[in-house]
Amino acid sequence: MSDASSDSLLLRQCRLAHQSADDPLVDIAIEAGRIAAIAPHLDRPTEHTLAVNGQLVSPPFVESHIHLDSVLTAGQPRWNQSGTLFEGIDIWRDRKQNLSLEDVKTRAITALKLQAQQGVLFVRSHADVSEASLTALKALLEVREAVKDWITLQVVAFPQDGIYSHPDNEARLEEALKLGADVVGGIPHYELTREDGVRSVHRIFDLAERYDRLIDIHCDEIDDDQSRFLEVVAACAIRCSCGSRVTASHTTAMGSYNNAYAFKLMGFLQRTSINFIANPLINITLQGRTDTYPKRRGVTRVKELWQSGFNVSLGHDCIQDPWYSLGTGNMLDVASMAVHVCQMTGLEEINACYDMVTHHGARTLHLKDYGLEVGNAANLIVLDAADRYDAIRRRPVVKAVISQGRLLVETEPAQTQWH
Ligand code: FE2
Repeated sequence: MSDASSDSLLLRQCRLAHQSADDPLVDIAIEAGRIAAIAPHLDRPTEHTLAVNGQLVSPPFVESHIHLDSVLTAGQPRWNQSGTLFEGIDIWRDRKQNLSLEDVKTRAITALKLQAQQGVLFVRSHADVSEASLTALKALLEVREAVKDWITLQVVAFPQDGIYSHPDNEARLEEALKLGADVVGGIPHYELTREDGVRSVHRIFDLAERYDRLIDIHCDEIDDDQSRFLEVVAACAIRCSCGSRVTASHTTAMGSYNNAYAFKLMGFLQRTSINFIANPLINITLQGRTDTYPKRRGVTRVKELWQSGFNVSLGHDCIQDPWYSLGTGNMLDVASMAVHVCQMTGLEEINACYDMVTHHGARTLHLKDYGLEVGNAANLIVLDAADRYDAIRRRPVVKAVISQGRLLVETEPAQTQWH
């Protein structure tokens, strides 16, 4: 089965990601790019059949937080020796002086293909809008258009160096929205003063309202327990009743807050529907760098946020860039790291980490018709796994990726032979 252009497709004997082991396997019929039927033993004419043989069928992975403008630049022009966020920002400031549209587009599309072949079909990428030409943003907007037939890309206008650190940055951020960025970003903890940080959050909410865009703020990505911009985000979200359109990314300082403050803040957050994104692969390496021992984990309170009913998703953040020289694009790596770092080892908790790289990410991105339901767009993946727990434990290959009803990629699992 490898005809990528077929209009109808039947997947036989699928185990759905949210089925229990006792539920019967189902067939999935795809017609004209949509899921036409899901039931045991479907009998309908089809152009092609894919034998799934009881393996796991899941909605695609959602990469809710990555920086595609900086992917695949690790070591350029130099390696991040301290491993800190701030040395990474300095290195990127040098590297981005010679960005070109072609440079960004080539690396971004390489990364998107790497992601897609591992089952990612929805991506939210930040684009640095702190330089005069807005090259990173313009390149990613071109990429968004170029790839839209097989992967959905959302672009965040992200003022990496702060909105008020340079007199032109505020105008650059607004220009990025006029050019078509989907989401307004920010980095209040990297503004020059606490006051500038607060002002930046208010400005982000103003722009989001004026241009009707979503919000995704790099918020308190630092171990400083006095970094408290999440409360400002919460206050703005309460006042505009727009929390579901707002995402607080990283919030690593929350891992350092004293519990008295954290519990008070949690109460305020409960009055919003803010989404949270944690990036455990990178934050376990970036944070805690100024600690001796005990050394902090530097990841936000994922388990407690999830237990409190917040929509929490997970991102890679980086693939081989000044902040994180590793990264594979595989969302099961991210989920596995969350299980470890956030101590989410109960079975329900492990399954929740799988949901954080699928359904929860879809909610953060405000995706429509995501999920294995009749009538939805036929985006789905087949994993060489028995269930969500097995998928996170073994991180097996994604055998088939179906995008908008079309078979996009197939990968054969490696074979081992003992002699
Ligand atoms: Fe980030």
